[in-house]
Amino acid sequence: MNVLILGGDGYLGWPTAMHLAAAGHRVHVVDNYLRRRLALETRSEALIPTPDLNDRAETFRRLTGTATGVSIFDVTDAARLSALVERFKPDALVHYAEQPSAPYSMMGQDEARLTLENNIRSTFNVAWAVMTHAPACHIVKLGTMGEYGTPDIDIEEGFLTVEHKGRSDTFLYPRAAGSLYHTSKIMDTDLLWFYSRLYGLTVTDLMQGPVYGLSTIQADLDPALVPNFHYDDIFGTVINRFLVQSACGIPLTVYGKGGQTRGYINIRDTLRCIELAVTNPPARGEMRIFNQFTELFSILEIADRVRAAATLLGLTVEVQSVPNPRKEKERHRYVAHADSLLKLGLEPHRMTEEALAGMLERVLQHRHLIDTRRIMPRVRWS
Ligand SMILES: NC(=O)c1ccc[n+]([C@@H]2O[C@H](COP(=O)([O-])OP(=O)(O)OC[C@H]3O[C@@H](n4cnc5c(N)ncnc54)[C@H](O)[C@@H]3O)[C@@H](O)[C@H]2O)c1
Repeated sequence: MNVLILGGDGYLGWPTAMHLAAAGHRVHVVDNYLRRRLALETRSEALIPTPDLNDRAETFRRLTGTATGVSIFDVTDAARLSALVERFKPDALVHYAEQPSAPYSMMGQDEARLTLENNIRSTFNVAWAVMTHAPACHIVKLGTMGEYGTPDIDIEEGFLTVEHKGRSDTFLYPRAAGSLYHTSKIMDTDLLWFYSRLYGLTVTDLMQGPVYGLSTIQADLDPALVPNFHYDDIFGTVINRFLVQSACGIPLTVYGKGGQTRGYINIRDTLRCIELAVTNPPARGEMRIFNQFTELFSILEIADRVRAAATLLGLTVEVQSVPNPRKEKERHRYVAHADSLLKLGLEPHRMTEEALAGMLERVLQHRHLIDTRRIMPRVRWS
């Protein structure tokens, strides 16, 4: 298949490009290095330096003989995206090209506006480019489990049938975001649902939980192919922060009570999920929503697992509660379902101590590059 990947320089974008190219698909990636720029501006650069997209594509071609097309431009530029879709004729388009940090989106008005404009415009341009030049193309869009919030009822996969005054109908599952970033993802979903209902777009919207991991079959071929690893409070995830704190002998900083529960997924499973979605498209004109995570953990449980992984490597780690910079429930019910990707053939990798210890070993190799001033919360929700 011809697969166009938007956001191809990202943590998920580049590993996805290599994975799909290695599986025999013709892959083209687009990026404008927005994340690299914002990380530089907020002093949140990745721990392990990564070459630019052209250099990574060249390394991958040299090692595997597989070519990957690269374009550097902003997908909020509708004309350039449309021209590429018209020329490349994708069978599937994987849309990762968004500003993905919740704390960044809560820094101030400029950051909020950038997040909203970038994410909505990129999704809007994807819808129009596909409708106009490749109407049979399957759009695979990355959403987030954060769109649902933490409701007191079970979280279903995207839709909910509601009974009201003796009648019933099916709607998008009610959503309640906890940051402006997550709100932009809700708006994306609504846009795609609109264009699917009215104009017949074929869409898979993947509600993904936080992803962890540095190891994939292709990324392990060469240090230059490693996924981006951010560990700061703005672009880093909690697992990465805890690993870096373990490496530096700093107590793991749990926000508030630590009962915040989310669905997590290993990067190898993310790649498999994208492949499963791409190779098993929905019916033409259908929009389906899958929940994309494999295990549920509270923050305290994550801290325990990281501590156990650190112990395997002979490190001593403490856990400490710090005031929560976010506005969120710190103890809540969280029952979320994610059966569809398992039915398609996903075989989950678990968050074992060994998996986390493998990541920690990579962190320890780059310990001299860690800037500990970036780990404590710099952005507050209030
Ligand atoms: N990583 C996770 O844990 C996670 C969890 C849930 C959802 N997601 C979603 O998955 C997607 C990818 O996440 P990621 O972690 O790889 O983020 P990332 O920031 O590493 O990758 C996104 C890439 O898109 C690029 N980009 C952004 N706006 C662009 C534009 N207008 N034009 C061209 N390129 C643009 C960025 O430069 C970046 O390289 C995001 O949409 C994110 O919301 C990620």
